[in-house]
Amino acid sequence: MAMKKIGIIGCGTMGAGIVQVCAQSRYDVYVREIDQAILKKGLESIGAFLSRSVEKGRISEADKEAALSRIHVASDMKELADCDLVIEAIVENLEVKKALFKELDELCKEETILATNTSSLSIMDIAKPIKRQERVLGIHFFNPVPVMKLVEIVRSIVTSDEVVEQSKEFAASLGKTAITAKDSPGFIVNYLQYPFRLNAIRMLERGIASRDDIDAAAKLGLGHPIGPLELQDLVGLDITYAAVGSIYEATKDPNFAPPVLMQQMISAGRLGRKTGRGFYRYKNGEKAPD
Ligand SMILES: NC(=O)c1ccc[n+]([C@@H]2O[C@H](COP(=O)([O-])OP(=O)(O)OC[C@H]3O[C@@H](n4cnc5c(N)ncnc54)[C@H](O)[C@@H]3O)[C@@H](O)[C@H]2O)c1
Repeated sequence: MAMKKIGIIGCGTMGAGIVQVCAQSRYDVYVREIDQAILKKGLESIGAFLSRSVEKGRISEADKEAALSRIHVASDMKELADCDLVIEAIVENLEVKKALFKELDELCKEETILATNTSSLSIMDIAKPIKRQERVLGIHFFNPVPVMKLVEIVRSIVTSDEVVEQSKEFAASLGKTAITAKDSPGFIVNYLQYPFRLNAIRMLERGIASRDDIDAAAKLGLGHPIGPLELQDLVGLDITYAAVGSIYEATKDPNFAPPVLMQQMISAGRLGRKTGRGFYRYKNGEKAPD
């Protein structure tokens, strides 16, 4: 089945990016967002990204206009009923996602594939209340979506092979490389990177090396574009703490146990860039001297 119409739910950080890459890949996109201010901001960010791409000569003005013309706002959920694929990118909350999937299951045509962009929740748990469980999977994009080339395709124990194959073809049609993971905590990328970031914090906590030397080790010794402590500040300590905490709860794997230093920094409000202080200090969004 060739996909034509894609529904995206949520037009925040991830949803807006997914809307953009789908529209640029010639799909008819229907975006549903409950917060009008966020919807406006998301659509403006797409327009601004495409305008910059025109200025840089990456796409033509006609390409930009064509992509924008393929984006439609779904003012009613019913407009998503005949989508070939719906991708959910709403708040990372199991109960909220379950309720949405139940609504989509009742609303959408039988063939519609229902995908979640969740980073940390179980696909099977999200699909639990619905009938078409074999047509539910994770299509996990990375931030910023138009730039990052990877998509994780996450299959639950009941996702059908056909749905996995169609989703891989869809990812390829967006110019992304798809990798496939089982429905297991952290999938592939986060299962690799969380212990790495937590080990950086443990090294600092134990006084094995300084903050700057740990970040220099990752950048100059491992070729990473950013050090693990700088990255941690960018993501937010509270966000990582919640994600690794849920993996630790599910697996009891000590690699995901949040270090005490992390808990203390969160209590002190040192969440990273967004609060002006994490492992580094920040002023006006930029790194500042200690
Ligand atoms: N931010 C990241 O770097 C990142 C990366 C990969 C995956 N994810 C995952 O993607 C999902 C979205 O994350 P985000 O960072 O874009 O969040 P966000 O808060 O920026 O956007 C979520 C949007 O969903 C909207 N929303 C909530 N309930 C809705 C509903 N019922 N119908 C329509 N819209 C609704 C909200 O108004 C909000 O604008 C989460 O599951 C998150 O774990 C995030």
